[in-house]
Amino acid sequence: MLTSNVSWLVIFLTSVAPVRSGSLLGLATITNIISGITDILTTNSGEHNNTLPEDATLNITELADKYGYNIEEHTVETDDEYILSLHRIPAQCNETNKVVFLMHGLLDSSDSWLLQGPGYALAYILADEGFDVWMGNARGNKYSKAHKSLDTNQTKYWQFSWDEIGMYDIPAMIDYITNVTSKNIYYVGHSQGTTSFLVMNSYKPEYNKKVKMMFSLAPIAWLIHTKSLIVKLFTGDIIFQYFLSMLNEPSNFEDILSNLCKILLSSCDDKIYFFVTNNKLTNDSMLDIVKGHFPTSSSTLQLIHYSQLVQSKRFCRFDFGVEENLKRYGSSKPPDYDVGKTTVPTVLFYSNSDRLSDIADVMLLFNRLPNVYDTYLAYKWDHIDYLYASVAKDTIYAKIVQYIKE
Ligand SMILES: *[C@@H]1O[C@H](CO)[C@@H](O)[C@H](O)[C@H]1NC(C)=O
Ligand SMILES: *[C@@H]1O[C@H](CO)[C@@H](O)[C@H](O)[C@H]1NC(C)=O
Ligand SMILES: *[C@@H]1O[C@H](CO)[C@@H](O)[C@H](O)[C@H]1NC(C)=O
Ligand SMILES: *[C@@H]1O[C@H](CO)[C@@H](O)[C@H](O)[C@H]1NC(C)=O
Ligand SMILES: *[C@@H]1O[C@H](CO)[C@@H](O)[C@H](O)[C@H]1NC(C)=O
Ligand SMILES: *[C@@H]1O[C@H](CO)[C@@H](O)[C@H](O)[C@H]1NC(C)=O
Repeated sequence: MLTSNVSWLVIFLTSVAPVRSGSLLGLATITNIISGITDILTTNSGEHNNTLPEDATLNITELADKYGYNIEEHTVETDDEYILSLHRIPAQCNETNKVVFLMHGLLDSSDSWLLQGPGYALAYILADEGFDVWMGNARGNKYSKAHKSLDTNQTKYWQFSWDEIGMYDIPAMIDYITNVTSKNIYYVGHSQGTTSFLVMNSYKPEYNKKVKMMFSLAPIAWLIHTKSLIVKLFTGDIIFQYFLSMLNEPSNFEDILSNLCKILLSSCDDKIYFFVTNNKLTNDSMLDIVKGHFPTSSSTLQLIHYSQLVQSKRFCRFDFGVEENLKRYGSSKPPDYDVGKTTVPTVLFYSNSDRLSDIADVMLLFNRLPNVYDTYLAYKWDHIDYLYASVAKDTIYAKIVQYIKE
């Protein structure tokens, strides 16, 4: 199966290649992509259990109910009229309570903070400590698909990347939380949840004042050294151009991923394998639960924006092409984000084996952040282990609780 899938890919690549002149891939890039695909297929080899565990099928309110946690849903409207869902596990009547805001990564949702279950998942651990726990949902994900005038079947709805998530969504959610609780927050971001935080402060540095501390799990800003296949796939011009030509406009990335997985994987229930490697910190029974929740919807532009960073080797705004850039930014190239404006004390949790958030890229961020309070190296962790590895509770979650209590 492995061989036949790979040769399928070669045919696919070579047949697509002539479609776009001027975007012929170098042999090295093709080899790179094929070796990445081989990784996916190897990870995805064994037989899969098609009976999903119950927790794979429950939404966030059902999960919290099942495990006896009180959960609230709040809606927040952004300045550009997207309507977002916030989920909250409120503190049990304690006036001195601290407020923690958790922000998920790319293609993810508030679910990710609960999936490991009581005693293991960060949201429950923080709630058990007596903290007031809020979980955000970025525009376009399964809980935040509403808009005052646009519908998700319209291209205009999907016209955003994590730039807009940082400019509008995060500030709107922080305003709402600080308003309801009259307290400043502790921010925990995973992956894109860290990128969008840096973007927010670059535009609106006044938000530093509303945040007591930032916990950055698998930080993403510069992507010069990333080894992530899914991001690299979109920098290999041909596949990128091919899918773009199929779409020709921004849309839900889930649709593209479904097309990709039909070509490359045996079953589209297994899209998760685009994002994990052979690591065993997140065990198989946990992965079966995660499969029911990840990936969720997001805009194609979020992924394309990340891929642009790989190519430009910069941490900058979306590149619309010279003409549109001149109109929007007054310069032919997109402007850089100013990471120096994130002045809140920050703790960076990173790993030496995260393919997406490479240690060398985290160091670039570290060197530019003005107020790094501490760093923590998670040894041999994968990108999703920050959420789903059972060792997270005694390591990084324990650290987070300790810093908040200090
Ligand atoms: C498949 O998963 C279900 C739910 O987790 C479990 O009850 C069942 O025993 C598993 N079957 C096999 C063959 O592993
Ligand atoms: C979860 O599902 C239940 C029942 O299907 C529904 O009432 C509830 O609104 C859902 N929660 C969310 C956050 O979508
Ligand atoms: C309220 O929270 C503080 C700090 O977490 C804790 O010391 C105190 O015991 C809590 N009080 C109640 C009534 O739960
Ligand atoms: C989009 O969906 C709305 C309802 O959700 C429907 O009224 C409208 O006709 C749809 N538009 C298109 C172009 O499919
Ligand atoms: C904060 O609360 C005040 C008073 O309840 C309200 O007028 C204001 O619109 C709220 N702001 C936000 C951002 O929710
Ligand atoms: C898998 O991990 C989860 C939490 O991450 C844990 O509850 C469960 O016991 C683990 N299962 C096995 C078989 O180790």
